[in-house]
Amino acid sequence: MDAPAPEPSPPPAPPAAAPAFVDPGAAEGLPALGATDFWEILYGRRSVRRFKQDLPPAELVERVVHAGTWAPSSCNYQMWDLVVVDDPELNRALGELSTQMANAPVNIVVSYGTGFSEEGMAGLQSASAMIQNMSLAAHALGLGTFWITAMGSAEKVRETVGLPRDRFVVAVLALGWPDYPEGKFPRAPKRRPMDEVSHENHYGGRAIPSSADPQAWESDLLGIYQRARVMNGLRHNKPRPWEVRALEESLDLLLPDGAEKRAPDAEGQAPRWLDVLPCTGILVERVSKRRPGFRFDVAERSRAVATFAGGRTRPKAGLFAWPVPAGEAAVALDEAPLPPVEAGAYDVVSCLFRLEGLPPLERERALATLASYLKPGGRLLLGLVSQRSFHDWTERLRARRGGPRGVEYVLSPDPSIGPFRAVDVAEVESAARAAGLTTTSRTGVQAVPQPEEIDFRTRNFAPRSRKLATLVGKGLATLERLPGVQARYGRFQFLLLTKA
Ligand SMILES: Cc1cc2nc3c(=O)[nH]c(=O)nc-3n(C[C@H](O)[C@H](O)[C@H](O)COP(=O)(O)O)c2cc1C
Repeated sequence: MDAPAPEPSPPPAPPAAAPAFVDPGAAEGLPALGATDFWEILYGRRSVRRFKQDLPPAELVERVVHAGTWAPSSCNYQMWDLVVVDDPELNRALGELSTQMANAPVNIVVSYGTGFSEEGMAGLQSASAMIQNMSLAAHALGLGTFWITAMGSAEKVRETVGLPRDRFVVAVLALGWPDYPEGKFPRAPKRRPMDEVSHENHYGGRAIPSSADPQAWESDLLGIYQRARVMNGLRHNKPRPWEVRALEESLDLLLPDGAEKRAPDAEGQAPRWLDVLPCTGILVERVSKRRPGFRFDVAERSRAVATFAGGRTRPKAGLFAWPVPAGEAAVALDEAPLPPVEAGAYDVVSCLFRLEGLPPLERERALATLASYLKPGGRLLLGLVSQRSFHDWTERLRARRGGPRGVEYVLSPDPSIGPFRAVDVAEVESAARAAGLTTTSRTGVQAVPQPEEIDFRTRNFAPRSRKLATLVGKGLATLERLPGVQARYGRFQFLLLTKA
């Protein structure tokens, strides 16, 4: 006979010393609080970015702010100062600084005293605790919020709402009634697994590097990082029109075949194309649309990323594993492994702006692996950002202006997906030769920054500097038309290599 099931253990008793709750807001005349479940509020809060335009009742907004003031602050100094902006004119002015502030009927500008609690950035931490309190309180009241640090210019926000010079604006909290159709309330973006994030007594993990240098990264960590990026969807990875144009023009020049649509073929007779490390899938989506004559597969470091990228081709691409280099301690990605790529099976293999994310030795190995996937006579399409272009100057210019330098901000086509360094194209070519590939044709494009890029990169400059940058761009554009300049100095270099 089975042993009797053990008795379920009773829930832990609440701590006896907890004082009875007295609502401090009620004492200040705010409406009474309804009963809410703490865990539901904590886990159910989402960043809300679509709002009804009618103002929420003033007493609810006050309740939200009041909850903010009950956050902890360094030494309980409470040197925070808020401006609740519900005047449409002022909100329009804020919206001109950043479109993020043009969404909600209320924007709460949160600032802290510059000279207070500077050690350990305790002032900033206090203000952040306040913002989180307000976000949770708003959600408990049925309101929605989202946290805005992309304010355009924090200084201009401060001036617009008349805060004194010695307050620094930490963030703006957009507030209002959520406006989503039934069932369309934002779903929770996934969180990194607990055991990756939290350690007992002593840190026992391998932290994701913040450096943009490929040498600082191991392949499996890059896999984890990229998986986290795609889990957030594409909000942070928008295709840049000038980069897409470079790819499409070069594709038409180097690989014009396969642009005709073929009838679906049960035998799988269409020529096969493998795109390696597509990550967000922004590029493979475009390539597959432009070359419908091929059947597409993708190879990635993790199943989650492969699924994300492969889902962007029509029909959906087949999913395969990009091998983590041998001898490396592979951190389990905790997912069912993907099948390996079939050797010698592909008519075309492409690798677009991904070799720049690998350290040189691994790059050589990668080229040999790419070559092994091709049929005899098959072609490898490489997209590379060239060291011998203005690319690195753009990075230097950004660093001089005090721009952030971490991996999240490194300039690359398909941004925010990991480390990136422009490459020596001749070196890549010689490694490809060693892997049995011969360059059949090539093209270089965009030897100078394109007007759309100048416009985008200078969007937060003062109007005069912006005008100057546009003028310089126009001058450079004439240089680009000189014969041979793009081929030699083009930022984007595309090589078509053939396997013997
Ligand atoms: C410090 C900080 C800054 C943020 N800045 C922005 C921002 O400028 N724009 C935006 O749309 N969301 C911003 N967010 C919201 C995050 O994107 C959001 O919290 C995250 O994707 C998780 O989604 P969830 O809030 O729905 O859980 C910010 C969040 C924090 C904590």
